[in-house]
Amino acid sequence: MDFYGRDFLRILDFSEEELRYMLEVSRQFKEFKHTGKSHKYFPNKNIAILFEKTSTRTRCSFEVAGYDLGMGVTFLDPTGSQMGHKESIADTARVLSRLYDGIEYRGFDQRIVDDLAKYSDVPVWNGLTDECHPTQALGDFMTILEHFGRLKGLTLAFVGDTRNNVANSLMAMSAKMGVNFIACGPNHLRPSDDIISKCQPIAAKNGATITVTSDVASLNGRADIIYTDVWLSLGEPQEKWGERIELLKPYQVDAKMMSMAKESAIFLHCLPSFHDLNTSIARDVHEKFGISEMEVTDEVFNSERSLVFEQAENRMHTIKAVIFLTLWNPAIKNDESGKGI
Ligand code: CP
Ligand code: NVA
Repeated sequence: MDFYGRDFLRILDFSEEELRYMLEVSRQFKEFKHTGKSHKYFPNKNIAILFEKTSTRTRCSFEVAGYDLGMGVTFLDPTGSQMGHKESIADTARVLSRLYDGIEYRGFDQRIVDDLAKYSDVPVWNGLTDECHPTQALGDFMTILEHFGRLKGLTLAFVGDTRNNVANSLMAMSAKMGVNFIACGPNHLRPSDDIISKCQPIAAKNGATITVTSDVASLNGRADIIYTDVWLSLGEPQEKWGERIELLKPYQVDAKMMSMAKESAIFLHCLPSFHDLNTSIARDVHEKFGISEMEVTDEVFNSERSLVFEQAENRMHTIKAVIFLTLWNPAIKNDESGKGI
């Protein structure tokens, strides 16, 4: 398998075997981290992480992963750089790839990260676009694999805004890993025909199915994993809250919905989540629309079946694996001192 110098832009760019290998390398890095084994493989490398949208987990995962690997990390956002407003993404990429060994990008249109990769001489990693969130799906599948000890044959039900970036990457990852995928949400927010037609043959080849439904009852006894995400994603207009709440209220993950899943089912969420009134956005929505919990109830979020914080931790281990694999040159002898890298 050859990852060296490659970009990480979408799940569908990688084979089943490559994705499995990434999960295995992530597991090893988690073990190193938990046992305190130093893994500063890249003391002479530096990475830039670019965020056009806000982030906690992805930003911190890239930073910690970079530091753990011995690298320097530079964080840039639109207020602290020329990117986007004074200098094009293409020019930014060409400059940064002269200075850095890898570039992470979080932003809007998928074409921007694709362009970054096109114009950059170093690996580009997608930290979320409107279309997909591939590092999220990798972390989620690490969590699922750790919990169940297997992937093939499990059923993941994504409930809510089933055409969002997280759902798209989960559908792709499920197809690749032979996990049955159920997209359960309103017809207005169903996954695009394009993503379904790309994933369906892959799922079939791996013995799995993709189901798109608006009927919550179809979850009955099937799901091993119930997954949801916010009802309004980063970059979507705040005026849409009313419409989204109307559409998505029937798809709120509550105790009743969890009781429809398998008895052993777990709950996952990419976070951040609106499960209480402890954020300014949740309080604004509560004031305007009178709801105090959105995509998931506080009860489910804080239940024993919820693995959301394990998931958040696994973002870092999987991102570290992506950085490592795409920067590690297997043709050169590497050692911890960095000599030869
Ligand atoms: N899940 C996730 O990507 O979180 P952040 O937006 O905080 O990075
Ligand atoms: N769908 C969400 C995911 C956040 C990690 C968003 O794009 O805001």
